[in-house]
Amino acid sequence: MTYDFTTSAVHAVADNIKWNKYAGRDVLPLWVADMDFATAPEITAALQQRVARGSFGYSEPTAELIAAIVGAAQRDYGWALHPDWLVPLPGLVSGLNIACRATGGDADAVLTATPIYPPFMSAPAFSGRPLTKLPLLEPTEGESWRWDWVALEREAASARTLLLCHPHNPVGRVWTADELARLAAIAERHDLTVVSDEIHCDLLLEPGTRHAPLATLSPELAARTITLMAPSKTYNIAGLGCALAIIPDATLRHAFQRTMRGIVPHVNLLGYTAAAAAYRDGAAWRAELLAVLRQNRDAVIAALDGAAGLRVTRPQATYLAWIDCRGAGIAQPQHYFEAAGVGLSDGADFGLPGFVRLNFGCPQATLTEALARMRRALGCA
Ligand SMILES: Cc1ncc(COP(=O)(O)O)c(C=O)c1O
Repeated sequence: MTYDFTTSAVHAVADNIKWNKYAGRDVLPLWVADMDFATAPEITAALQQRVARGSFGYSEPTAELIAAIVGAAQRDYGWALHPDWLVPLPGLVSGLNIACRATGGDADAVLTATPIYPPFMSAPAFSGRPLTKLPLLEPTEGESWRWDWVALEREAASARTLLLCHPHNPVGRVWTADELARLAAIAERHDLTVVSDEIHCDLLLEPGTRHAPLATLSPELAARTITLMAPSKTYNIAGLGCALAIIPDATLRHAFQRTMRGIVPHVNLLGYTAAAAAYRDGAAWRAELLAVLRQNRDAVIAALDGAAGLRVTRPQATYLAWIDCRGAGIAQPQHYFEAAGVGLSDGADFGLPGFVRLNFGCPQATLTEALARMRRALGCA
């Protein structure tokens, strides 16, 4: 290993939301989707150089940043992006909310598959649009979470927008080519705009798998797709606030940009600096990160799957494990494990009570201690 994934960088700062939640308490925070590692040294070096200039005016993407984004999309997904398609954003949640306002009126339903990252459910409500929740089918033996195609086809008939999470948070699915093709066909048939949140797309855990942006399936599908991407999860730089909407269709892009007017601020210039370094120079760090995350994922499954009736979905992407606690007879698993010294995310917030989400983006020592606490609480020590 060239890089250090054994040290926790968050202990050196006072402003970290993940750790501050439990300040003064002996609770290991494995909740919000930030990792505990320092970002790639290539990114820190680029930021240090930019800060040293002392010039912090309003900023815009440089030719270097655009080249880094276009280059990474070609290198990593074989996607030939046109620079005109790029709309910088301070965050993806803004993108979800803008998209809900820009792609339909008050009567037009927004569809999303649950359980899901909570802003997928709040964005339609904030935008005054009805939400249709489509429960994913729970895993059966040897399978993972799946689409309910019959229900999707039925609900799509009265919807205008599909909010897709690709890969999916919290169940960790990387949608297969077949699943994406079926989604594409339904979007075409029912004239849906698809908002494809691909924030976790550079965190595919199976060696050799390559992310397929939804918009690369066909030019027709690209014309109805708003892709949301960011380096924030992969490189642990969410606090720098830099994300992207990628919108090939000019009419859709202009509607999105009109909705942003007067509300969405300029992107933070240090976010731009970090994004350029990430997309250009981050690949070696990311490869080592993925090896660490794979080990951590396997450790979570080894410790918890089957323990006292718990079931852990094996994530194909992300550093998040989705854990079914219903078989353990624990009424409120988030509270239960918090009382045992481990702070997890509550499945109820994702639309599925009885589950918790565990963030394994942390040094092995932290994870080992957290898993030991959970096993002790379950009587499995
Ligand atoms: C699917 C998904 N979208 C968006 C976000 C957050 O995006 P941002 O911090 O850029 O608003 C997260 C954070 O975990 C996420 O999991």
